[in-house]
Amino acid sequence: MLSLFENDSTTKKISTKHTNRLNNLTGKEWVFNTNSIDIFESTPDEREFNKFIVEIIETRFPTSGSQSLAHDLRKTHPSPKPPQLMERLIKFFSKENELVFDPFCGVGGTLIGASLCNRKAVGIDLCKDFFDIYIKVCNKLNIPPQTFFIDNSNNINSIASLNNIEFDLILTDPPYANMMARNKTGESAKKKKNTAPTPFTESKEDIGNLEQKDFLEELKKIIYLSFNKLKNKRYIILFLKDFQPKPEYHGMLHFDVMKKLIEIDGLFYKGFKIWYDKSINLYPYGYPYAYVSNQLHQYIMIFRKEISVKK
Ligand SMILES: C[S@@+](CC[C@H](N)C(=O)[O-])C[C@H]1O[C@@H](n2cnc3c(N)ncnc32)[C@H](O)[C@@H]1O
Repeated sequence: MLSLFENDSTTKKISTKHTNRLNNLTGKEWVFNTNSIDIFESTPDEREFNKFIVEIIETRFPTSGSQSLAHDLRKTHPSPKPPQLMERLIKFFSKENELVFDPFCGVGGTLIGASLCNRKAVGIDLCKDFFDIYIKVCNKLNIPPQTFFIDNSNNINSIASLNNIEFDLILTDPPYANMMARNKTGESAKKKKNTAPTPFTESKEDIGNLEQKDFLEELKKIIYLSFNKLKNKRYIILFLKDFQPKPEYHGMLHFDVMKKLIEIDGLFYKGFKIWYDKSINLYPYGYPYAYVSNQLHQYIMIFRKEISVKK
């Protein structure tokens, strides 16, 4: 069998001056073994089987040229979602001409995804700069802009034009607690050329600037308000990413968010998919002393509104 560690072009150069205290792996093998997506490809059949256990969506979307969907503009946001990925989810969880809602829409990953598959969409984001970029993206792609409100999603009930609106799908990528406001390592530090925290906005209303407990409560509130405008038997999908485990916190944000959201009466957790963005580089975290995971994947958490209607 071909070694799993060959042809690993993303692996960074690793210094060999330290003695490996944990195992007999080379630096290259070490990096491979810390990839949080570990599908051991013995046979094609087994690989397929593994994919059935958890659906893994592997992507490597272009970041330049016309197929990149104006990535050059969207990347000004610290964490834009690929519209092609959102399109795929929207296509499964809604029908043509239906209405998709994103209460944390950023530069419009969900909104553009909806446009690509002939759905209508409404987005809310606190930040006017993100709205401006979204409009530039629409102009560049030659698509009519969807409805975008610059506001705190907490205020959704005060937006008059949404009073009698019902959504067919909620697809969103909220802040992952205060992950972006923390010090950076690896890829993000390299991109930013320093390790300074880069929150989405400086606003106190940005739930990405809240400590975890408050973050969970605020997220629940916004999801509850959005849920009230969702049709029964329809879905709420959230992207989430975990933290590195620490003695004081296990780091499984996706689990804590799930536990918090199912406190909402009538909101049921239905499972998750994994998004594996293959364009992210692996780093030799922990090398050569201890295991530290390269957390490349994100969770796509799926919930459904199921209110029993009395006859
Ligand atoms: C992970 S980003 C979403 C990125 C988006 N999926 C995209 O493709 O650009 C989360 C967004 O939530 C916004 N946000 C944070 N708190 C908010 C709030 N209370 N109301 C509305 N937007 C908020 C931030 O400004 C940020 O753009």
